[in-house]
Amino acid sequence: MAEAFNETVLPAEKAERYAAVAEEIAAVLDGEPNLTARMATVSSMLANSFEHYFWTGFYVVDPTKDAELVVGPYQGSLGCMRIAFGRGVCGTAAATGKTQLVEDVHAFPSHIACDSRSASEIVAPVFDADGKLIAVFDVDSDRPAAFDAVDQHWLERILATTFG
Ligand code: SME
Repeated sequence: MAEAFNETVLPAEKAERYAAVAEEIAAVLDGEPNLTARMATVSSMLANSFEHYFWTGFYVVDPTKDAELVVGPYQGSLGCMRIAFGRGVCGTAAATGKTQLVEDVHAFPSHIACDSRSASEIVAPVFDADGKLIAVFDVDSDRPAAFDAVDQHWLERILATTFG
């Protein structure tokens, strides 16, 4: 299955590509209940499918702390370990429960620069089947304004299908 996906030629158009990857993610994860495996697989398959993705991964809610995220499965250069709710783009997504679409990270108050090459980002909250926040999914790009409503729509849809 993994080999087949790695060799798949995906559609060039962005929404069509997301639709194809979403289908592949569902197929690969069918019957796999482990949360770490599910997060690692989503990170890998999305990061390897889109040129505009630079850092791709999860910050999970730490159940032992009060309102704090800790880094989870990701693809990319070394990420920061912990982010308090309300801090930076990830912390804002966690605190508000709303997707943050940031065209210019340098203009975002309290943005946390883990890698100075990041120019724009999208962070979507991840909820479980009970509607409880379990993580946020963070994608950074080294291109300015790399993400739009198409990325938001498909990321929210993939996260809801995979973790909801
Ligand atoms: N840019 C994020 C921090 C996480 S890293 O970029 C991997 C933020 O401000 O939330």
